Amino acid sequence: MFDLKTYLKDVRTTVDEQLNHYLHAQQPATRLSHAMTYSVMAGGKRLRPVLCIAAAEIVGGRRDAVLPLACALEFIHTYSLIHDDLPAMDNDDKRRGKPTCHVQFDEATAILAGDALLTLAFEILAEAGSRCASDDQHRWLLTIAKIASAAGFKGMIEGQMRDMAFEGTVIPQGELESLHRLKTGKMIEISVASGALVSGASARQQQLLHSYAQNIGLAFQVADDILNVQGDPERLGKATGTDQTRGKNTYASLLGLSGAEALAGQLVNNALKALDAFDHGADSLRAIARYVIERKR
Ligand code: IPE
Ligand code: IPE
Ligand code: MG
Ligand code: MG
Repeated sequence: MFDLKTYLKDVRTTVDEQLNHYLHAQQPATRLSHAMTYSVMAGGKRLRPVLCIAAAEIVGGRRDAVLPLACALEFIHTYSLIHDDLPAMDNDDKRRGKPTCHVQFDEATAILAGDALLTLAFEILAEAGSRCASDDQHRWLLTIAKIASAAGFKGMIEGQMRDMAFEGTVIPQGELESLHRLKTGKMIEISVASGALVSGASARQQQLLHSYAQNIGLAFQVADDILNVQGDPERLGKATGTDQTRGKNTYASLLGLSGAEALAGQLVNNALKALDAFDHGADSLRAIARYVIERKR
């Protein structure tokens, strides 16, 4: 029987060791590297690295081969959180159970720590790609391009722009869906896709995993919206009630809590259906799909 708790603990330990390794490669430590380390090691769920590694393993890839990829995804994600919390954006003072980066350090340092994490991610990716066998290098390059695209103006950043632009106005459900798919979905999709792609997944496997990832990507942000209303701030490690205060468009505000919960459940069922063609080897992804909406943090 697959045990998600043990799996998550195991993957998180491996990922955290490697994240630390990258962060301490630059010695002596500086104010900038302290700020980067502060936010990365504050204790996130590491969902994106976990998805990347699980997807790789399912198609026969090795964990150590995708570890740089998993870490790069977490660095990009953490940069996006540091910037998301800035006064010019969501203006939050708590993240991962600690004062946000700009509160702990200062605004300029937080901006630069985010910039440095984003660039570090691509340094790690390009380096790992350059070290792999020449047959695999094309796949790595393609993967790096796809990650840049998911994180950039065709993905997460456009989602963040819309999230800001629509504050205080109510948008229709279709618009909200596109916003969430860009803001959160794209990075979750690429976490699954990149692990599978560099591990040599077949076109059919990639297609099924894409459908899985699209569904859990949206479900993840729906759950984030629900937790912002009814989560426990202590457990979440960040403030709640903030979406309503800022007039954000969320699934909880648009459909109500029960409507949002029903949608999240439906999306997870769709994700599970996409995995039907996989055997028990995919139980990790099945368990993660359920976790995405059952989580309390
Ligand atoms: C929070 O992401 C921001 C969203 C994209 C919804 P996570 O809930 O994965 O945050 P951490 O990494 O666990 O802190
Ligand atoms: C954060 O979305 C998404 C990104 C960082 C791209 P939210 O602003 O909804 O997430 P939280 O609630 O601050 O974690
Ligand atoms: Mg935000
Ligand atoms: Mg925010």
